[in-house]
Amino acid sequence: MLIALCSAKGAPGVTTTGLALALSWPRPVVLAELDPAGGDVLAGYGRGETPADGLAEIEFAARRGDLIRHLDARLLRLDGDGQARLLPGLADPAGAGHVNWDRLASSLAGLDGGTTDVLADCGRLRTEHFPTAVLERAAAVVLVTGSSLRAVRAATHAIAELRARTGGAGLLAAVVVRPGEPYSEPEIGEALGVPVIGSLPRDVKAAAVLSDGIPAGRLYSQSALMRTARTLATEVIRVVEAHRSRLAPPPDATSPSTITVGDSRVG
Ligand SMILES: Nc1ncnc2c1ncn2[C@@H]1O[C@H](COP(=O)(O)OP(=O)(O)O)[C@@H](O)[C@H]1O
Ligand SMILES: [Mg+2]
Repeated sequence: MLIALCSAKGAPGVTTTGLALALSWPRPVVLAELDPAGGDVLAGYGRGETPADGLAEIEFAARRGDLIRHLDARLLRLDGDGQARLLPGLADPAGAGHVNWDRLASSLAGLDGGTTDVLADCGRLRTEHFPTAVLERAAAVVLVTGSSLRAVRAATHAIAELRARTGGAGLLAAVVVRPGEPYSEPEIGEALGVPVIGSLPRDVKAAAVLSDGIPAGRLYSQSALMRTARTLATEVIRVVEAHRSRLAPPPDATSPSTITVGDSRVG
């Protein structure tokens, strides 16, 4: 399933959250860097050590053939066993206008016959060349937000815009980074009117490993951030799958009126 992550304003930690989730995902996953402002993972977590073709080059290659084949060949391993892989983003954001987001989203949604999950880091909502087509094809759109008053205000406007852009079939939800500064998950859920799937705590040290490639200390894998990311990953899968099964007609359904659409409660 394709899950889009995005933010309303500022830099709440979409890329860090996406990476923490991908590294903690309990089944095969690709972190796709679709932020039109450019990809950060190779220069951050990857410390600039792995040169790779960015999205623009994949676009160019795909004009001559099958995009899925080109994508698959360019995915990089994020972990030892290759369960988590990375589709590196734009090396130069100037290329964002040339990416065919709809074609890319459709290929990502069907990656490995749909058996590989894709976490798409779409960046900030109102950025030029934002990949709206990815939101439209996603099983879930997850807004990553901080917990301050200004973050929650910006998130409220972003949710209204996301509702308009996605048309309502996929799940619309939120994840809170650094909850309790000062608002809690339930307070934020109430303000936004969408389910809050969970949160990631403030953990500057572990976050810097992910966002800036600071060497991981002995306690990194047991850090608050990475421990919580494992719980969050499982919860994201559970909530998105529950939403999807609610949308699917029961086996003996004869009337489309039995389908629930737009239910925003967590299943
Ligand atoms: N849970 C967290 N705790 C502490 N700092 C965090 C957390 N998540 C992200 N950060 C920090 O916030 C900054 C922005 O993160 P980033 O993921 O690049 O944001 P975005 O993708 O939203 O622009 C980075 O310095 C990162 O280390
Ligand atoms: Mg980012």
